[in-house]
Parts: sequence; C-alpha cells; structure tokens
Amino acid sequence: LTDEQIETLLKAAMAAPTAMNMQPWSFVVLTDTSAFDKIFEGNRRGEIYKKAAATVVFCGDTLATMRSRETGEMETRPNKFWVQDVTLSVENFLLAAKSMGLGAVYTACYPDYQLVGNVKKGLGLPDSVLPLCVVPVGYPADNPEPKDKWKPEKIHYNKW
Ligand SMILES: Cc1cc2nc3c(=O)[nH]c(=O)nc-3n(C[C@H](O)[C@H](O)[C@H](O)COP(=O)(O)O)c2cc1C
Repeated sequence: LTDEQIETLLKAAMAAPTAMNMQPWSFVVLTDTSAFDKIFEGNRRGEIYKKAAATVVFCGDTLATMRSRETGEMETRPNKFWVQDVTLSVENFLLAAKSMGLGAVYTACYPDYQLVGNVKKGLGLPDSVLPLCVVPVGYPADNPEPKDKWKPEKIHYNKW
C-alpha cells in the first residue's frame, strides 16, 4: 500500500461522527511486522497481520477534557462514548477500503483485557488510551460476493 492509500483510508476513518464531536480516536499504523511477534505471541492472529500490507490499531481515549457547564473550568472526565466513536471510524475505514479494491477486517481487541494489555504495552499507548480493534488491510486473495444478511423479521414498526 502507498502512503497515499493509507492516508485516504484514515481520512475516511476520521470523517466519522462522534459524540459531542470529541474525535477521541488515534490510529497506530503497523508496517513493521517485527513488532507483531512480541505483541501477538502465541496467537495465530500475528501470522494473519503479517500477511497484510498494513495493519491499523484503532485506539480510543477513555478520558475527555472539556469545559464544565457547571463551573466553566476545564475538566477531565471519562468519555463514555469512546467505543461507539472509534467503531464508527472503523466502519468508514472498511467501506473506504472496499471502494478502493482493498480488503480489510475488524479483528477484536477490546474488551479482551489480556489482548488489550498486550497491545497497550507493545505499542506504548498512553494510560488513558485503549486499543479497540486491529484491522489488517491489503489486496484481497479473493473477492467473495457480499453475504445476504437481509432478514425482514429483524425489523419492527412502531412497536416490537
Ligand atoms: C466487534 C467485532 C469483532 C470481530 N472480531 C473478529 C475477529 O477477531 N476475527 C475475525 O476474523 N473477524 C472478526 N470480525 C469480523 C466478523 O467475523 C464479520 O464481520 C462477520 O463474520 C460478517 O462477515 P462480513 O463482514 O464479511 O459480512 C469482527 C467483527 C466485529 C464487528
């Protein structure tokens, strides 16, 4: 992947909506696969990430600093929406990748605390920042048809 392609994907990610427009995300782009052995030791995922052109760790800040409505002072509070915010950026990234002829997949990290701890330590994330997921991206080996997930019974009108 070129730097431009990665930037285009991350621009799409950063276009996602976030609660109070906090944009609590950070992205760690891994192109050096040597880091993977330590982080994903004994986990078969490490091998999958190594095959990708790049792997992006989607992170979120669990704390938000903003002006208090009550006191008018700046204060730091837990950001209860960080998971939703970062997840929406992942979906934008996945859709952008597809539109560019690339393949990418959401692989879970948070809330598996063992994996979260390993990734956090391996990448040197700041205390308040957690890794939500790990997304390998590259040119897909095949191009399967989208799955048909349409189930009308999942839809309710006016009441359940
Ligand atoms: C929260 C979440 C966690 C996921 N974790 C993994 C994972 O660890 N490994 C993996 O191969 N796919 C993972 N996926 C991808 C799903 O398996 C995939 O989206 C699902 O099977 C539907 O397939 P599709 O996206 O091709 O339609 C995850 C998806 C989500 C939303």
